[in-house]
Amino acid sequence: MTETINQTATYPIHHTVLKNWVHQIADLCKPDHIHWCDGSQDEYNEMCERLVRKGTFIKLNEEKRPNSYACFSDPSDVARVEDRTFICSRKKEDAGPTNNWVDPKEMKQTLSKLLDGCMQGRTMYVIPFSMGPIGSDIAHIGIEITDSEYVVANMHLMTRVGNKVIDALGAKGEFVKCVHTNGAPLLPGQADTKWPCNPTTKYIVHYPEERSIVSYGSGYGGNALLGKKCFALRIATVMAQEEGWLAEHMLILGVESPDKEKTYVAAAFPSACGKTNFAMLIPPKEIDGWKVTTVGDDIAWIKPGKDGKLYAINPEFGYFGVAPGTNNKSNPNAMKTIAKNTIFTNVAITDDGDVWWEGMTKEAPKNLTDWRGHRWDPAAGKPAAHPNARFTAPASQCPSIDSEWENPNGVPISAFIFGGRRSNTIPLIYQAHNWNYGVYLAATMGSEMTAAAFGEIGKVRRDPFAMLPFCGYHMGDYFNHWLQFGRDIPNPPRIFGVNWFRKDENGNFLWPGFGDNMRVLRWIVEKVRGKSNAVESPIGWMPHFEDIDWSGLDFTKQQFDQIMHIDREQWKTELHSHAELFGRMYDKLPKEFIFMRELLLSSLWRSPEKWSVEPEVD
Ligand code: OXD
Ligand code: MN
Repeated sequence: MTETINQTATYPIHHTVLKNWVHQIADLCKPDHIHWCDGSQDEYNEMCERLVRKGTFIKLNEEKRPNSYACFSDPSDVARVEDRTFICSRKKEDAGPTNNWVDPKEMKQTLSKLLDGCMQGRTMYVIPFSMGPIGSDIAHIGIEITDSEYVVANMHLMTRVGNKVIDALGAKGEFVKCVHTNGAPLLPGQADTKWPCNPTTKYIVHYPEERSIVSYGSGYGGNALLGKKCFALRIATVMAQEEGWLAEHMLILGVESPDKEKTYVAAAFPSACGKTNFAMLIPPKEIDGWKVTTVGDDIAWIKPGKDGKLYAINPEFGYFGVAPGTNNKSNPNAMKTIAKNTIFTNVAITDDGDVWWEGMTKEAPKNLTDWRGHRWDPAAGKPAAHPNARFTAPASQCPSIDSEWENPNGVPISAFIFGGRRSNTIPLIYQAHNWNYGVYLAATMGSEMTAAAFGEIGKVRRDPFAMLPFCGYHMGDYFNHWLQFGRDIPNPPRIFGVNWFRKDENGNFLWPGFGDNMRVLRWIVEKVRGKSNAVESPIGWMPHFEDIDWSGLDFTKQQFDQIMHIDREQWKTELHSHAELFGRMYDKLPKEFIFMRELLLSSLWRSPEKWSVEPEVD
């Protein structure tokens, strides 16, 4: 498996561009060895063993968590670094106002100095990977070069890796070039650390025109597993715009009705809104005969088929999910998915070699080791697991996995759902009048901030399409791409807005969420099939109280009214803030949005100050 620096791979590689590029990166980064990943189980095991020997991985209790490992990152390296993420398009205006931009020539000079010798004392791994089922017309290939065994092991779970990808690439196939380094060379005699990274210098850089990515200094998640946010979203959005498809921050799920009719929907929510829970939803038992199946939990690639319908694949092969809050109530399917063959990062460890995080059980077990590797002191007021602690697990282990999740042709999408975290203003569920208005709805979605990192807590952060940190080009062009996309297909999917997070005047959530979201999902899929009723509101179509299946839930008409009503004053503030967003991207804003905003304003003026689905008549 291992080769010395100037030899070629043992598996025959006929792709000259690939071989030359790998040698060019090796000349620059100066690793001690090169290892071409074959994707085998032996290779995965070998990576895990190397990580155990280095002290990075802790083997978990084989009885409780078979073939699973935990690790703790460096405390400076715990999440995606948006302020160190750059879109280095040739022209600044192509990156747009929501991305950090540096001239690619200047960035290359900076990075070539940093990359020079950055892999000394280490092995350089070459990972051929496919985003999506190999051979699918919707899938694309990447090659990630990395000096991190942690990355190799995680890529094995998150993507399809190895010789089969080399075969699919042939002699001339296209691939996205991904270079990753922890930025922590080992000089002769220097001792390694358990989580090598560069604590002071980090760069996550995208060159959209070249379809290439360079990531320096971080070993964590989306910064280092370059197939995910960097390729499958930032670079893929650029490819999708040029080639006429969609690369989206969306889960994909199937809804099966009691008469076995299957409807697939794709849904976008900003980070930390429970996407994985929604993707693996288990309906309440009273919603008899309905079933939800999971195609993907984070990213969707969607291409128009010859029949004019849209077909989606999940480009990933595993889940890189947030652990805290995951439990047998919020997501029993996720708990089963991570029962074995899983890598846990920054969770707490129990004294019998299992894992724990806040929200897994009501009471914390005694004698925990926290994510910093210390004995946890509950009285100190700090969480045992890092709030962004993660599990990496194979998608195939999910009990609700959809039978078609690996279908190379994808699954047909009938509806798009967009939702943010809003304590007021936005109703539980509404449907856009048409495609253009749906694009407006998605473009103006937002979430109230829960972490001070992004600004004032509670303030609405606009996150168009949940793509703010993930769109590889100008957001205004992205909106135009969506509008054009709808013009080009005969019968585009219907578009819905949801809000699971509306609160009452005392700050209590009005909606139970989790499995009960099935009630909303059922209305959506029946609406798409022309089987459920709706009433026209000032902002779109809405269900009447009796259009929702309430069996097994005590939810009154009055509560429904509270979670659905449209308050004119709140909406005036809302529309004001849409104008603010539009002002930021005026140079490329679709002019349609200006008129749609005016139309919304005028329909709100025509309606009562507090519009209700079921107005009380005296
Ligand atoms: C994620 C995110 O990790 O959206 O999926 O931040
Ligand atoms: Mn995500």
